[in-house]
Amino acid sequence: MRVEPVHRVVGHLAVPGDKSISHRSVLIGALCDGETRIGGFGRSADTEATVDAVRSLGVQVDELDQDTLCVHGRGLRGLVAPGAPIDCRNAGTLVRLLAGILAGQQGQQFELTGDESLSARPMRRVTEPLKRMGAGVETDEGHLPVAIDARPLHAITYELPVASAQVKSAILLAGLYADGETTVVEPAPTRDHTELMLEAAGARITRRGTSVSVWPAERLELGAVEVPGDFSSAAPFVVAATLVPGSELHIHGVNLNPRRTGLLEILSRMGAKVTVYNRRRIAGEPAGDLEVRSADLVATTVTAKEVPLAIDELPLFALAASCAHGDSVLRGAEELRAKESDRIEATADALRALGQHVRATDDGFRIRGVPTRPRGGHIESRGDHRIAMLGAVAALDSQHGVEIGDADSVAVSFPGFFEMVERLRRSAVETDRDHRPA
Ligand code: S3P
Repeated sequence: MRVEPVHRVVGHLAVPGDKSISHRSVLIGALCDGETRIGGFGRSADTEATVDAVRSLGVQVDELDQDTLCVHGRGLRGLVAPGAPIDCRNAGTLVRLLAGILAGQQGQQFELTGDESLSARPMRRVTEPLKRMGAGVETDEGHLPVAIDARPLHAITYELPVASAQVKSAILLAGLYADGETTVVEPAPTRDHTELMLEAAGARITRRGTSVSVWPAERLELGAVEVPGDFSSAAPFVVAATLVPGSELHIHGVNLNPRRTGLLEILSRMGAKVTVYNRRRIAGEPAGDLEVRSADLVATTVTAKEVPLAIDELPLFALAASCAHGDSVLRGAEELRAKESDRIEATADALRALGQHVRATDDGFRIRGVPTRPRGGHIESRGDHRIAMLGAVAALDSQHGVEIGDADSVAVSFPGFFEMVERLRRSAVETDRDHRPA
């Protein structure tokens, strides 16, 4: 895939439904009594893996149209072991959340598998706490396949060794089946979509400072969920419009949960011009529209406590910082090495290949900002959707365009990404034509 530079980024767009919330609406919908109607479902390779996983567990899911699903919940204890491994493909959120749910299906055995990338990612972070709760869980030396023998679960208080919403969510979901109050203590706040949705479904959730607790539940009911646009899918366009001079872009209906929008805080202290308007709530989550105008950026430092709030956007931060005035640093982000690829190495390699000055460190980047357009060139996505999108954003601002190897990986979270990039290019050409003197 080749993406050519654009001389400005203009127009209006809306991105697909949030991936985290889409996964959760299907998984929690499967545990509800009755039907859950999901609107604005973010259809992608990852979320389709979740639909297939719950189907293999006996849950009927009707696809009413491209982004509307109806999940016929089987109740908290109604899932049926498929008798074959459940393939979670590339989806980390699916494998970790499902492990928590399956640990609660007493008397049944399950096996979870995934693709090569998922099989290389750490699983003990989720199996350890589940074991402490009493579940029979085995890994292959900390990796997939994970075998689960669901037994009676005990409530625990668990201090997360790493800030991870996926692990927190797995414990909270297992806590629905425990014998008392299950508490997770976080080293830093992470996305709270699971807590919000469980609460909306009628579970008892309490938050105290850095901890969140769940009580055993009898029944859940969601009814309807409207999924807001994915901030992580909007972020590439926010950065593109910030970097390409003369841009003015509107992105509508985006989830703005403060535990997701750390990139906006970081960009705003770098001097970005992003305005939020039409603030509203969608499915109990803060949402709104964004207006992004291009801006000159200055360097900044990002430290550990900000990392979970911008975890999937840190490659984009590195690009923005490499085009800013001054030297930027990211610290405390060693978690990036445990994503779909080692995102510290993948980002530094990709940006260096395009002429940027980004050096990988153990836990982040050191970035020398040069406020000119990246040269362009060739990058490899390493099968990682966020790296492919990073290449496309750099391309839009580049001098000579960017060729992206394994660009299809965008389908993991955003199958229509390159069509949207193309639409932006056409809008730029059309607005120029409209403004040309007759
Ligand atoms: C996610 C949590 C984050 C994030 C991932 C989605 C979630 O992972 O990187 O893309 O939906 O809970 P960790 O919890 O492993 O940090």
